[in-house]
Amino acid sequence: MNRRAMFLEALGIPAEWVPRKEPAAAEALIAESTVMVDAMEAVERAEALESADIAVAMELDQPAAVVATVPHMPVDMPDVHDAAEIAQTVEAFDAPSPAAAPVIPVLRQSTPAQDDREVAIAAMAWPTLSESVAGCTACGLCSGRTNTVFGVGDQQAEWMLVGEAPGENEDLQGEPFVGQAGKLLDNMLAALGLARDRNVYIANVLKCRPPGNRNPEPEEVAQCEPYLKRQIALIKPKVIVVLGRFAAQSLLRSTTPIGKLRGTVHSYEGIPVVVTYHPAYLLRTLTDKARAWEDLCLAREVHDREGTQA
Ligand code: URA
Repeated sequence: MNRRAMFLEALGIPAEWVPRKEPAAAEALIAESTVMVDAMEAVERAEALESADIAVAMELDQPAAVVATVPHMPVDMPDVHDAAEIAQTVEAFDAPSPAAAPVIPVLRQSTPAQDDREVAIAAMAWPTLSESVAGCTACGLCSGRTNTVFGVGDQQAEWMLVGEAPGENEDLQGEPFVGQAGKLLDNMLAALGLARDRNVYIANVLKCRPPGNRNPEPEEVAQCEPYLKRQIALIKPKVIVVLGRFAAQSLLRSTTPIGKLRGTVHSYEGIPVVVTYHPAYLLRTLTDKARAWEDLCLAREVHDREGTQA
């Protein structure tokens, strides 16, 4: 661990993903500290990060596009500790794979029974919804699960994060993003002044683990999406951050690669959506961390702007 990381850890601030400008509280903590950060390191870092400043055009349902200037990205990403976990999951997420078939949920012909089920789920309150997920047998994934993974966080959150599906750890613990990718996600949230139990709700497109962390099947997505849709409707977040190619393409019903989906504000059921890379992918592909930080800054712009409109 380098000096800066030790310094930040001593302050109780995650060494990764600390924003340079915000949140103010984190910066104030750093400023107040009597510990000196190596000036050369800071200069080098600033120079290296210069290229991370970008202007992002945002396409909300507004007459004029808004252009947001993105602050410098935060400090380093963590080391990879659990290569097995990441290797198992990363391939399915964001890595460009021109040869891979699109993982998009097809527009399916729904049956009257499915329509009735969706209508019923759309009317559920939280307790019924979570019970319904816990007992769900709508697709084959139920036979292999240890636990369903409903979601975690503040049901009045202004921020919602949506991942793909539970992995092994999540299946065992019944909570989303509890492995190495989850630790990174927590650090990303901390960089925004957020935590999973404070003003954030985290859920997945699928509530059950696909065997071997394979890609979800379109029919599994189709059966599970009403649950996520209802969670979003109950929470009414100001912004949804979608993590990874699969979740983004599923939610937005798109075949566009993640590299093209990010950088623009999309919409799901009238709620602004920002797409970013999956944390498991970022653990392996450090070169994309600057882009992920840009995405989070874009999400913060959207969130703050929604706040002023409320
Ligand atoms: N990856 C996801 O997309 N969701 C989880 O909950 C864990 C890993």
